Amino acid sequence: MIKPARKEIESLTPYVPGKPIEELERELGIRKAIKLASNENPFGPSPRARRALARSLAGINRYPDGSCFILKRALSAALRVPEDWIVFGNGSNEIIELLVRTFLKPGSEAVTSESTFLVYDLVVQAAGGKLRKAPLKNFTYDLPALRSLVTRKTSLVFIANPNNPTGTIVREQELVRFLRGLPKNILVVMDEAYAEFATDRAYPRSLKLLSRFPNLVALRTFSKVYGLAGLRIGYGVARPEVTDFLNRVRQPFNVSSVAQAAAGAALTDTPFLKKTTANNRRGLQFLYRGFKRLGLRYVPTQANFVLFEVPGGGDKYYQLLLREGVIVRPMGGYRLPDWLRATVGLPRENARLIQALKKIL
Ligand SMILES: Cc1ncc(COP(=O)(O)O)c(C=O)c1O
Repeated sequence: MIKPARKEIESLTPYVPGKPIEELERELGIRKAIKLASNENPFGPSPRARRALARSLAGINRYPDGSCFILKRALSAALRVPEDWIVFGNGSNEIIELLVRTFLKPGSEAVTSESTFLVYDLVVQAAGGKLRKAPLKNFTYDLPALRSLVTRKTSLVFIANPNNPTGTIVREQELVRFLRGLPKNILVVMDEAYAEFATDRAYPRSLKLLSRFPNLVALRTFSKVYGLAGLRIGYGVARPEVTDFLNRVRQPFNVSSVAQAAAGAALTDTPFLKKTTANNRRGLQFLYRGFKRLGLRYVPTQANFVLFEVPGGGDKYYQLLLREGVIVRPMGGYRLPDWLRATVGLPRENARLIQALKKIL
């Protein structure tokens, strides 16, 4: 019988992605379903990225530039960090995996929170490590509680900031306190997939903190605000002592040429980025008002999605919303069985979610 290399792999539960629109329409024989389930950009891809993508197609007979030279130079200038502090991945998911493969010692542990991004679990478990989780406090990462789980076995700490699925943030002051009190051989990964949506002034300037804390890593992605989730490109920013090892472990051509071209163009598409973040701010205000009117509890968010509570179980409401052609994300897998997570959509999509909830309630 074929067995995986480690017993932890046998007990892995595969990641359940948001339901695709086509699948729902096929299953229910409906049309014009909307998806507010995977925190994607509701406007589609950045138009500049689209044009660059089309131009780049002529070169796909060649292998991509494994160093992402041109993109790295542009990003380095945009972020004001040296080029050798940046490492690209097939989505920021790949950097999470690379960090674990590179820095999680056999038999050692990683620390994170309950009700956070499920990929940390998958990756750590697949690598034969153990992920220890502190409870959330007010739907927010509780850094002192994370600290109390750190032992001599800990190699990595994962902090999703803003957190997915709660949308809450840890603030710069708390983060600095946490970093100061942590042994310097433990890597702290700030997973900032939604950084561009955060408006709270206390949101940590992690790239600045990198000069003070060499054990810090910041992860960002082109999947959310830039609208390129389908192309799979994200990056990590860390000191060269860290990126050097990641570059040794990663596949030489882990980011496609078309993704590099599109990401470089998206980076400069300021009108698109402004439109996206403005839509998000307005969409959140609309959704908050809608939830309040319907008497539903919600968690104020710094991201492009919002967690809200439904009476009598999230799964039931998830199914009822599907029948209305609205796909959101049930939260049972995140230990929040009475909650649903909805991505901020276009104004008419947000209105449709509120309308559907009103009908169901
Ligand atoms: C917290 C968090 N980190 C990372 C990712 C992964 O993004 P990607 O691999 O598309 O860059 C996501 C995507 O949903 C996320 O929510």
